[in-house]
Amino acid sequence: MLTRWLSIPICSFALPACMGGSSAKLTAPLGCLVSRQKHTLPDLPYDYGALEPHINAEIMQLHHSKHHATYVNNLNVAEEKYKEALAKGDVTAQVSLQPALKFNGGGHINHTIFWTNLSPNGGGEPKGELMEAIKRDFGSFASFKEKLTAVSVGVQGSGWGWLGYNKEQGRLQIAACANQDPLQGTTGLIPLLGIDVWEHAYYLQYKNVRPDYLKAIWNVINWENVSSRYATCKK
Ligand SMILES: [Fe+2]
Repeated sequence: MLTRWLSIPICSFALPACMGGSSAKLTAPLGCLVSRQKHTLPDLPYDYGALEPHINAEIMQLHHSKHHATYVNNLNVAEEKYKEALAKGDVTAQVSLQPALKFNGGGHINHTIFWTNLSPNGGGEPKGELMEAIKRDFGSFASFKEKLTAVSVGVQGSGWGWLGYNKEQGRLQIAACANQDPLQGTTGLIPLLGIDVWEHAYYLQYKNVRPDYLKAIWNVINWENVSSRYATCKK
């Protein structure tokens, strides 16, 4: 799962009003460090073969147990090196680690969202507030689907197509990200639905025909998960 580490001593701090009142205080002894937890590969919420015939088991197994696992491992390595660079005050090393943190951190964030965006019981159309927002911001579900498909198919090389929420403007937006650039860290949009268009996500089944993979993936989109993400980010 996604975890963070802190290397600063905790002394005392006031809780914000939304988390328990302005007068509340927590204390911990100086020098007490929150130990760093390594990131781990999250389990898939379904079997590797559960998305067939739309995405086959071989793709899912390699994608999850090899590709995603590699992002997790390399993120842990990069964070360890970053921690050492911080401890030494080595700014050059800190800067040189940024691409590895972005690529592997993004890969971990993106895939963690992606697995939950899919379901063997998926497909169809969303309901309720999410559907209303899609109609408001894209005209119709068909128009939204067409736009997200076109943006995803059009990603040059490797990357992702996204449906995100623009919190400042209170509306849904479609965006494309290159490589493993994470949506929120890159654009500020809150990720709701990500479509992985790296070849590792489809080549074994669809070869070089990315549009066929896009056509198929709509049959396994977990709208309950996307709706739940939308409800959460609107709070
Ligand atoms: Fe991927």
